Amino acid sequence: MAHLFEPLKIREVSFRNRIAVSPMCQYSSTDGYANDWHLVHLTTRAVGGAGLVFTEAAAVEPRGRISPEDLGIWSDEHIETLAKIVELVDNFGAVAGIQLAHAGRKASTAKPSQGGKAVDESQGGWRPVVSSSAIAFNQDSPVPEALSLQGIQEVINAFVQAAKRSLQAGFKVVEIHAAHGYLLHQFLSPLSNQRTDDYGGSFDNRTRLVREVVQAVREVWPEAYPLWVRISATDWVDQGWDIEQSIAFSKILKSLGVDLIDCSSGGIIPGVKIPVKPGYQIQFSDRIRREANILTGAVGLITSPEQADQIIRTGAADIVLLGRELLRNPYWPHSAAKELGLDQPWPVQYERAWV
Ligand SMILES: Cc1cc2nc3c(=O)[nH]c(=O)nc-3n(C[C@H](O)[C@H](O)[C@H](O)COP(=O)(O)O)c2cc1C
Repeated sequence: MAHLFEPLKIREVSFRNRIAVSPMCQYSSTDGYANDWHLVHLTTRAVGGAGLVFTEAAAVEPRGRISPEDLGIWSDEHIETLAKIVELVDNFGAVAGIQLAHAGRKASTAKPSQGGKAVDESQGGWRPVVSSSAIAFNQDSPVPEALSLQGIQEVINAFVQAAKRSLQAGFKVVEIHAAHGYLLHQFLSPLSNQRTDDYGGSFDNRTRLVREVVQAVREVWPEAYPLWVRISATDWVDQGWDIEQSIAFSKILKSLGVDLIDCSSGGIIPGVKIPVKPGYQIQFSDRIRREANILTGAVGLITSPEQADQIIRTGAADIVLLGRELLRNPYWPHSAAKELGLDQPWPVQYERAWV
């Protein structure tokens, strides 16, 4: 039976354990560039013992940033500083992954420390923001422009160019962000997608854009490297996207060459009551893994070594992604191994921490 510290191999990429740093926006970039903050932040988590270190959501085009300070990969100039991070993460034994994202109608907001509300051009934001349909996220958000068919092709191309740049930077895992109410999720969910063309209405039509992005990215992303998709397994709203659709869609994504579904939830509309409690999203990674027969990642309020180990041992997921716990303690994987009595030595430089 697999456990938390059992290595995992997906395609030709090997992870030393089943712990991943979940993508987390740092709101620290200027013009999308990774800088010393990202370098230290991400490398520290590799030294801390994670098997996989994801960057935060990297915007595939400038108008797809959540905030003006988001990381980006919309130009070749972004590659150099990312490549340095990949090299260091790799040197310290972790695999470097990148999450490719477009915020859609949730773009152009202030960073959380500045209130998180929509900002316009005068405050460093931008217009228009785009989506599946011309429906604002909330009353403070701008009304997005519904993407034209040509606009949709441009978005697909932006993901493809971003994947090519990710490869040039040396990343070995790409995760397409189709969760949390951002652009791709805005196409999946009937709550935000009210199109009447080939990209709206039926399940087949609502999933078309994500399928096309996945197919196009898979063509440029090496066979040897894993491709992941993060979804919101449910909108937690009647008539919204739900776990049944997620299972059906995961089967399709698998047939298109996706290796793992990273199972998050929520984010498509404001004001939704989500039953948040420890491990509240594990039910989704568990069901998708069993019913769609694909590798899954579990995320969301996973904080204790025993809980994380149980998720792997019971087959509820193949990997756990930790967010805030790894912000609090980048060395969590080492401490967890020690607590579980499993083999993952601390870095030799830190051995005296325990004597
Ligand atoms: C500061 C912060 C930034 C985040 N940024 C992203 C992001 O860029 N992409 C993403 O998919 N999720 C993002 N998330 C969500 C996390 O990846 C994770 O799914 C969530 O925090 C739940 O896991 P946790 O309880 O272990 O923190 C962010 C969360 C936090 C706290």
